[in-house]
Amino acid sequence: MTEIRKAENISEWLDQRLAIQKLKKVLLTEYWIPKNINFLWGMGIILTVAFLILLISGLFLLMYYKPDTHLAFDSVNYTIMQEVHYGWLWRNMHAVAASLIFLIIYIHMFTAIYYGSYKKGREMIWISGMLLFILFSAEGFSGYMLPWGQMSYWAAQVITNIFGAIPFIGPDLVVWIRGNFFVSDPTLTRFFMLHVVLLPITILAVIIIHFYSLRVPHINNQDGEQFDFEEEAEKYKAGKKKESKVIPFWPIFLSKDFFVIGIFLIFYFYLVGFHYKFALDPINFIPANYMKTPHHIYPEWYFLWSYEILRGFFFPIAGIKPFALGLIGIVAANTILFFLPWLDRSSIVAPAHKRSFGFNIWFWLLLLDMIGLTIFGKIPPNGVYFMGKTDITHWFGFVFVAGFFILIFIALPIITIRERKKIGGSR
Ligand code: HEM
Repeated sequence: MTEIRKAENISEWLDQRLAIQKLKKVLLTEYWIPKNINFLWGMGIILTVAFLILLISGLFLLMYYKPDTHLAFDSVNYTIMQEVHYGWLWRNMHAVAASLIFLIIYIHMFTAIYYGSYKKGREMIWISGMLLFILFSAEGFSGYMLPWGQMSYWAAQVITNIFGAIPFIGPDLVVWIRGNFFVSDPTLTRFFMLHVVLLPITILAVIIIHFYSLRVPHINNQDGEQFDFEEEAEKYKAGKKKESKVIPFWPIFLSKDFFVIGIFLIFYFYLVGFHYKFALDPINFIPANYMKTPHHIYPEWYFLWSYEILRGFFFPIAGIKPFALGLIGIVAANTILFFLPWLDRSSIVAPAHKRSFGFNIWFWLLLLDMIGLTIFGKIPPNGVYFMGKTDITHWFGFVFVAGFFILIFIALPIITIRERKKIGGSR
C-alpha cells in the first residue's frame, strides 16, 4: 500500500484513497474531443439526459403504479393522473421523454451514417449503439403495455403472436412469453419486470460500454479527418490552444453541451406542458377489453416503419405463412443495420456530400424510405380510398418495404465498391 500522508483537505484525503485526480484527468480534463464538430454531436449527451429523465420520472410513477390487470389502468389514469399531486406531470414527462428519445436516437443514428462514424475502428461504437436501439425498442414496447389500455392489450396481442410463426417451437414460445394461453395478468407482470428492472439495468451497462468504446478510436469529426490525438493534446497542453485540433471534454466541450442540453430542455418542457397529447394515444385511455378489437391497431410513431415492414410481408407469397415472412422481415430490418460497417465496402470516412454521388443519393433515399414507411405504417390495414381504389396503399407500402431491403442489402455494397474503385481507399 502507498504511504498515506496527513491530508490538508477532503479532496486530498479522497485522492489518497481513490485516486480521484487521476480519474478526473482520464474521464474529464484529459479526454480529448475534436474541435470541428457541430451541434449534431450533442445528440449523445441529450440521449443521456433523456434517459436520466426517464429513470427519475419512472421512479416516481413506480410509487403508485400497480402491476395487476385489475388495478393497472386505474392506478395510471385515476390515481396518478388525478389523485396524486403532480402525478400528471411525472406521467407526461415520462411519456414525452420516451417519444423524444426515439426521435433523438434516429437523428443520432443518421448523423453517424452521414459522417461515416461507424467505419473501421469504430465498429464497437456502432454495435453498442445498435444494441441500445434494440434495448430501447424493448423498453418502449414493455412500457406501452403497463397502463393496460386497449392499445396496450392489442399491441401485446399482435407482437407476441408474431413469435407463433417460428417453426416447431412457435406456439409453445408464445405461451411461454405470455405466461398463459392468452395475454393476461402474468403477461403484464413479466413485462413490468422487464420494463422496470432488467431492461433499464442492461441499458445502463450498454451505455457504459458505448461510452468506453468511444475512448480508443475517438469521436469522428465533420470532415472525417484523421489526426494524432496524442500529438494534438500535447499542443493544447503546451498552450498552443488555437493550433491544436482538440479541446478537453471538461470544462470546454461540456460547456457547449450544456448549451445544447438547455435548448433541448426548453423544447422538452414546452411539449410536456402544452403538447403532451402526441405521446399518449387516445385509444389507450379506454380500458383493455379482450372482447373488442380496436378498428385499427398501430404502434407508437417510432415503431411505425418496422410495423409497415411486418405488414408488407402479409402478401401470401409462394404459399409461405405470411406471418412467418413478417417475422423474418421485422427481425431482418431491425438487425441488418448491425452489419452496416461491413455492408459499406469503402474505407472512406467523410460526410456523405463529400463522398461519391451514389452514396450521397443512397443516404437521402434511405432517410426518405424510412419516413415513407413511417407514414404508410399509420394507414389502416384496409388502406385508404385513393384513385378509385381502397387497397392501393398496400402497394405503395410494399414499394417502401422492398426499397428498404434493396437499399441496404444490394445498393449499399454495390455503390461503395464502385466508390472504392473510383476514389481509392481499401476495405
Ligand atoms: C440512449 C442511447 C445512446 C446514448 C446515451 C448515446 C451516447 C453517445 C454519446 C455521448 C456519444 C458521443 C458524442 C456524440 O457523437 O453524440 C455517442 C457517439 C456515437 N454513438 Fe451513441 N448513444 C446512444 C445510442 C446510439 C445508437 C442507437 C447508435 C447507432 C446505432 C449510436 C451510435 C453512435 C456512434 C456511431 C457514435 C460515434 C460518433 C462519432 O464518432 O462521431 N449511439 N453516443
